[in-house]
Amino acid sequence: MAVLQWSETFALGMQVMDETHLEFVNILAEVVNAPDTDLMPLWQTMVDHTDAHFAREDRWMLDTGFAANNCHTTQHQIVLKVMREGLKRGNAGHLAVVRQMADELGVWFAQHANAMDAALALHLRNVGYNDQTGEILLPQLLPTEDIEGCHGTSCTPQDTPDAKLHSF
Ligand SMILES: [Fe+2]
Ligand SMILES: [Fe+2]
Repeated sequence: MAVLQWSETFALGMQVMDETHLEFVNILAEVVNAPDTDLMPLWQTMVDHTDAHFAREDRWMLDTGFAANNCHTTQHQIVLKVMREGLKRGNAGHLAVVRQMADELGVWFAQHANAMDAALALHLRNVGYNDQTGEILLPQLLPTEDIEGCHGTSCTPQDTPDAKLHSF
């Protein structure tokens, strides 16, 4: 499977989010190209980076009017859980599981960035959210009711890699 490449379509106009996504793509490329001896340390790096990446986006959502159980956050939780399962399986010697997961993660990321993260970035820009300081320039534009959906994108289960990744 081709390695996921950075594309300008992933640049969503939020500095920290864009830098994080570029790092994500670069670490994933290292994972995909890793020899067996380096695979699990790099997968650990991928899991740790993704944990921080998702936690930041989840906090931005809470800061700007999303419900705690909104479907974007739920998708993050599912993906991270699957990645941690990969850590266990890989550390038990099942490296092929991790390699397959890394391929699926690339496919998932491209969809996620262009749908849920793009919708989140648009929402954050609309309320003037600064993703470095947490400042909101236009608080009067915050939603009056908590957002539980994904702000215009689909929340259907097939959006997550869960079904595929759980088949290993
Ligand atoms: Fe993201
Ligand atoms: Fe996200």
